[in-house]
Amino acid sequence: MSDPIRVRLTGVGGYLPRDVVTNDDLALKYGIETSDEWIRTRTGIAQRHIASGDETTASMAAKAARQALDYAGVDASEVDAVLVATATPDQVFPAMAVQVQALLGMTTGFGFDLSAACSGFVYALATARALMQAGQTKKILVIGSEVFSRLLDWTDRSTCVLFGDGAGAVLLEASSEGEEGILSTHLHSDGRTGDILYVDGAAGCASATQQLRMQGREVFRHAVVKLSQAVDEALAANGLTGQDIQWMVPHQANLRIIEGMAKKLALPSDRVVVTVDRHANTSAASIPLALNEAVRDGRIRKGDLVLMEALGGGLTWGSALVRM
Ligand code: ACO
Repeated sequence: MSDPIRVRLTGVGGYLPRDVVTNDDLALKYGIETSDEWIRTRTGIAQRHIASGDETTASMAAKAARQALDYAGVDASEVDAVLVATATPDQVFPAMAVQVQALLGMTTGFGFDLSAACSGFVYALATARALMQAGQTKKILVIGSEVFSRLLDWTDRSTCVLFGDGAGAVLLEASSEGEEGILSTHLHSDGRTGDILYVDGAAGCASATQQLRMQGREVFRHAVVKLSQAVDEALAANGLTGQDIQWMVPHQANLRIIEGMAKKLALPSDRVVVTVDRHANTSAASIPLALNEAVRDGRIRKGDLVLMEALGGGLTWGSALVRM
C-alpha cells in the first residue's frame, strides 16, 4: 500500500572544510606513527577534511542546508522543521538545529537534534518522514553535521586516521502525487554493544576524556551482519531484490565494508557512491555528503531507486530506501 503522504527528497547540499589532510600529512606533519599504505589498504581512505576554528557543526550545517534549499528553489521561510543529526554539537544547548534556523533567518517552525552516531542521518530521515506523515509539516531540512576531529584522541593511531569533518543536507517535501519519495526506513539499536564504539562523558561528568574509543575489529564484525539485516529488511518490505537497486549510498566508514555490502546486493562498483577515499568517515554527514555529490554530478537521477544504510556507535543501524 502506498503512503498517504509521500515524502520526496527535493534538495541536496554539502559542505566540506577548507583544510585537506592527506594520509602522508598525518604521518609527516601530525607525527602519527602511520603510513598512507596502511590506511589505504585497511580502509580505502586517502585524505580527510578537517575543520578550522570558524568551521563549526552549526555553521557547516547551515551552509549545507542553504545549498539544499537553493537546489530545490525553496526559501528558508517556507521550512517547517530542521533536524540535525550530530554526535559533535558545538554546545549542549541550544540545539544545533535551532542555531541553523537562526543562521538561515528562520523565525517560524521548529528544530531539534538527534543523536545516533554514524546512523544519525538515517534516523533523522525516518523521524522527518514520520513527522510529515503525521500531517503537521510539509517541508523539513534533514542535516548531518560533524566535527569528529574535535573528539578524536590524536595519540591513538587506530582511530584518529579514520575520521573527517563535514556536513550534508537534504530538503524533504510532502507530496500527494507521483511515485517518488522515501519508500521505507528500518531502524535498530542494541545498547549491549555500547562499549565497542563510544565517546565517554558528557556535561557535568568531570572524569570523562570525551574522546572516541573503538574496538575496530568488533565494529567491523557487527557492521557486516547488521547492515546486511537492514538491507534485507528494506528489500523485503518493498518486494524487491538487490537487482532492483540502482544506487547504494552507504555510510562511508570503510571501503571494505562498503564493497562487502555491494557484493551482497550484486551491485557493480559503478553503482555504489564512494566518498570515503576523500572524506574519510564523517559520521552522520557521510550519507548526505555522498548523495549530494552523486546527484550534482548527474549519476543519481530522478526516478532512481537509492538504498542507504548505516551503522554507528550504540550500536545503532538502519536503512532507507528512496525513489528519487
Ligand atoms: N597505522 C599503522 N598501523 C596501525 C594503525 C595505523 N593508523 N592503527 C593500528 N595499527 C596497527 C596496530 O597497532 C596493529 O599492530 P600490531 O599487530 O603490531 O599490534 C595492527 O596495525 C593491526 O591492528 P588492527 O586494529 O587489528 O587492524 P585491523 O586490520 O582490524 O584494521 C580498522 C583496523 C581499519 C579500524 C578495522 O578494524 C576496521 O575498519 N574496523 C571497522 C571499524 C570502522 O569502520 N569504524 C569506523 C567507525 S564505525 C562508524 O562509522 C561509527
